[in-house]
Amino acid sequence: APRVFSGIQPSGGLTLGNYLGAIRRFAEMQDRGGHQTIYCMVDLHAITVWQDPAALRRNTRELAAGFIASGIDPEKSILINQSQVPEHAQLGWVLNCVARMGWMKRMTQFKDKAGKHAENASLGLFGYPALMAADILIYHATHVPVGEDQKQHLELTRDIAAKFNHDYGVDFFPMTEPVIEGAATRVMSLRDGTKKMSKSDPSDASRINMTDDADAIAKKIRKAKTDPEPLPETLEGLEGRPEARNLVNIYAALSDLTAEQAMAHVGGQQFGQFKPMLADLAVEKLSPISSEMARLMQDTAEIDRILARGAERAREIAAPILARTYEIVGMVR
Ligand code: TYM
Repeated sequence: APRVFSGIQPSGGLTLGNYLGAIRRFAEMQDRGGHQTIYCMVDLHAITVWQDPAALRRNTRELAAGFIASGIDPEKSILINQSQVPEHAQLGWVLNCVARMGWMKRMTQFKDKAGKHAENASLGLFGYPALMAADILIYHATHVPVGEDQKQHLELTRDIAAKFNHDYGVDFFPMTEPVIEGAATRVMSLRDGTKKMSKSDPSDASRINMTDDADAIAKKIRKAKTDPEPLPETLEGLEGRPEARNLVNIYAALSDLTAEQAMAHVGGQQFGQFKPMLADLAVEKLSPISSEMARLMQDTAEIDRILARGAERAREIAAPILARTYEIVGMVR
């Protein structure tokens, strides 16, 4: 049976990019039925770069609230915090021994995050994608919904699974399919249409945070960088206009349209007309989520209970897969 897994780092607040590129699609896959869905806060991944402990705790609970407020139902899906399911780290070690240094060195996210000072990056940051492969493979997940930026990591997951199967002469780990779909697989910065919208961008004006209030959202969209031309009539006309293209993609994703359908609505408009409409739409779609998040955050004990229950259910799937992995590898138990 198909099984869906995906994760998000609790390394800061949720952005509109996380919401449109990931969480909203997690909720769709949950509601479509026909498969089991497992969604994870990856706190072990977050600490590959320094996290203040109190902030990490708060961000983990707030991310859980964000999942639930965006429609992840902890009864229908298994909602977990990574470190509460120790099998992730345990399989992660085995996969560290399968993955090759040369493969890891090619990972563009490592190169971006480590920057010019790779010697100073943590060993965990280098090994990050092997733990990510473990997150997926510990459930034998078949489908992984993600934004465009995770594509290379998912290719590596397949390489690791294939090498394990080959080295031990088994057909054990599945070849996972990335699911990169929709109008917003890569939401760009509001200040620079060639850069990804990111929680780590120093400029808060570059992103919409899921906790921003209506005024902040409207202001950021009003001030978003654009060129002076009105929107073209067709999608092709957006070629070479990354900022305009980004706002159209956001509009499309928020209204459940393809970018092409969106252009049928907004093609030819001036930004003076388009931006206020986009701002209203964003506020209409996002403010119910942020107020629900705030409500859920008033009872963190309840969030903790949900995560404890999720971990229990997850371990029922993960423990036998880890046991079988150890057996294949030759561990005496
Ligand atoms: P993270 O926490 O950076 O991002 C979480 C999800 O949000 C998507 N995303 C975006 N989508 C569109 N536009 C954007 N600007 C944007 N920014 C982020 C990401 O593609 C991702 O789907 N390595 C992962 C976390 C992870 C994981 C996993 C994912 C750990 N283990 C196993 C899938 C399966 C990460 O850093 O995501």
